[in-house]
Amino acid sequence: MSTRVLTGITTTGTPHLGNYVGAIRPAIAASRETGVESFFFLADYHALIKCDDPARIERSRLEIAAAWLAAGLDVERVTFYRQSDVPEIPELTWLLTCVTAKGQMNRAHAYKAAADANVAAGEDVDAGITMGLYSYPILMAADILMFNAHRVPVGRDQIQHIEMARDVAQRFNHLFGAGRELFVLPQAEVEEDVATLPGLDGRKMSKSYDNTIPLFDGGAKALREAVARIVTDSRLPGEPKEPEGTALVTIFDAFADATERAAFRTALVNGLGWGEAKQRLVEQIERSVAPMRERYEALIAHPDRIEATLQAGAAKARAIARPLLDELRHAVGLRRMQAHPVAAVEVKAGAKTSAALAQFKQYREADGRFHFKLVGADGQVLIQSAGLAEGREAGRWVQQLKAGDATALDAAPIERGAASGYDRAAALAAIQAIAEQAAAQAAEASSKG
Ligand code: TRP
Repeated sequence: MSTRVLTGITTTGTPHLGNYVGAIRPAIAASRETGVESFFFLADYHALIKCDDPARIERSRLEIAAAWLAAGLDVERVTFYRQSDVPEIPELTWLLTCVTAKGQMNRAHAYKAAADANVAAGEDVDAGITMGLYSYPILMAADILMFNAHRVPVGRDQIQHIEMARDVAQRFNHLFGAGRELFVLPQAEVEEDVATLPGLDGRKMSKSYDNTIPLFDGGAKALREAVARIVTDSRLPGEPKEPEGTALVTIFDAFADATERAAFRTALVNGLGWGEAKQRLVEQIERSVAPMRERYEALIAHPDRIEATLQAGAAKARAIARPLLDELRHAVGLRRMQAHPVAAVEVKAGAKTSAALAQFKQYREADGRFHFKLVGADGQVLIQSAGLAEGREAGRWVQQLKAGDATALDAAPIERGAASGYDRAAALAAIQAIAEQAAAQAAEASSKG
């Protein structure tokens, strides 16, 4: 069983070097490890909490998606999607909201900081505070629990939110799990040895300090101009410099190997001028960034390709989210209405419905292609697939359709139209009946077990 690693990127702002070194690069490296299943998403619902400028939201989603893709994210390997393309997440948010203690939300850092500032300023405690800010941790819990993530790499400031997600998961399991663990309890993961990059003034590189070096924005020119503004001491060329602890050297280190780091230090100690040192730093960064920038610019020029990539990511994400949400809905009592079978006839009734259910069949044709079909109890073909290159692909569609998912039905590679005799309503009813029965059997098994 693989470990699920999940993290969200709030889509406000433009990626800078600090984001690349502190988040993008280590996340991509970690996603290449074996035994790891990675979920990376654009937390654009979270962005709405902080920003009410639609143009900025739109631009930032595009730039951040392009940056991750240009940096080498392998979307075949990981699940890369936008939060707002997965409607199961806000739906889960509500289920979680109903079991979250308000007192706990009062203590969430982001809300508390805003409330404390209001009090200090003599304002009403909740002046200017939205319910979005207040409920922020619940949306974040839904992001994590929707995919049963084990590990959540985050910055220090987010640890409290992961703790809250654990708490609410535990409460939900206790209330509705009937002995089962509906949710995995997630663990925050704070990377201790990932460099926090200093900014132009030596403080942590951050948009809020206005001391950032752009990653791609403005091209090589903007990079050169920003590096020129890195603060140094006033030693002249020829004078020995103290390399340790300077922002210039720390940034250099983040893009260099051990030999290059040593050579740069030696040159500074031997009197390399700051101007020339900055020149070398730009070249060093460019060695990694220039090829990525080329990919970035190609992507930004074709937003439709990024859109298609994200849509495909959302379909992958929803294939996981939908069946879990269906189970959760059932667990809290949001179920289809049906007569409750009397215990004595339960087994018989169960046998009868399963006999009446449509069945999936998978097979391979003489041309070597894989097919599946759904055959009604009366022998009528309700769904006929196209020929697929891989058996696994057919299997995956069957799994998704068995979950009763209308979106999957409409996306599935199946023959439609009058000539094929396709009847969407009948097909949907049949797959929903299969999903219902599976859920009912799971519930029955857990209530007995
Ligand atoms: N709140 C996180 C941040 O500001 C972003 C985020 C949203 C997130 N949902 C998440 C991170 C889920 C990890 C898991 O950095």
